Amino acid sequence: MQLDPNAIKQWLKRLWTACADRDNRWLSRPCTIAALFVLLVLVKSCQGIAYNYTNECRIYKLGYPMEEARALATALNDAQVDSLVARNEHDTIAIPVINARYFIADNFDRYLAYHKVDTTVNSIDVIIALVNIGADQDRESSAAPCDTTKGQLMLVNGRHYLDQNYKPDSLVKFSKTYCYEEQKAQRAVVDAFMAMQKACKEQTDAQLMVNSAYRSFNDQKGTYKHSIKGYAATPGHSEHQTGFAIDVTSREHPMRWPFDTSKEGIWMREHCHEYGFILRYPKKQSQIFGFAYEPWHLRYVGKDVARRIHDEDITFDEYYAYYLNRN
Ligand code: DAL
Ligand code: ZN
Repeated sequence: MQLDPNAIKQWLKRLWTACADRDNRWLSRPCTIAALFVLLVLVKSCQGIAYNYTNECRIYKLGYPMEEARALATALNDAQVDSLVARNEHDTIAIPVINARYFIADNFDRYLAYHKVDTTVNSIDVIIALVNIGADQDRESSAAPCDTTKGQLMLVNGRHYLDQNYKPDSLVKFSKTYCYEEQKAQRAVVDAFMAMQKACKEQTDAQLMVNSAYRSFNDQKGTYKHSIKGYAATPGHSEHQTGFAIDVTSREHPMRWPFDTSKEGIWMREHCHEYGFILRYPKKQSQIFGFAYEPWHLRYVGKDVARRIHDEDITFDEYYAYYLNRN
């Protein structure tokens, strides 16, 4: 709306005339002064009453210092503030939680609840990660079908499963030189592996080998049956069924653990993201994804995502929750 400066001038002039006495002494009329005073008092009291109902004040009354109440009121929506107020206590992790790197406002309640339920977890970042990936919820009842439309970024884990009939549209064989028995994967995976093994050979003189790649639901049944607990996913919950996962060791160190500390194993961990792979089950985050450390299991996610996951030092589960699955 455009305000006309002349109209404003006219309006102010009229107001001035209405309030002033004959000598143009505006404040000389006692009733004008009284009216102004009453108006001021009214405005102030309304402001005071209204402030009591603001989220900031409601949080402040729970015992948070004013600055923290302001920060919480800014970070949370009305419903979240309602439930914080309903808790009727000053929660010491509320502020660290909203300041955490991967804080998702929709999960605010669950972070506070999880902290109370699982007192063994003290790190705010771990609480945030566990809640973001749904570890605070019952695994059976919260399990959901994998969203396969996400392609190379589909998430398969303990809580996201593939149908037993799911099979990638097309699978490509690895050259016999790089596997002990026939192995297949999605084309992008085979191409990325070829580029990675070439660079590894040049830099470490060791030959990377694919031990296992695509596994059908039924193949996974066999793997699960013959594996040590914690090292194989139940059928339907294995990334190998997507065709985007490969288990890699080297011709020089074909066994998994010697490979872990070999120069090519170390090289692969440091460089696989440059080829679009991530180490899906890294050592320090096993609490988050729920499997044991697997230095051989690579997951293809493409170069951009692999770089981000590597740089931010997070798991794919956390990446998915924070970057791909938010409302
Ligand atoms: N070894 C991984 C967890 C799998 O079985 O998919
Ligand atoms: Zn694997």
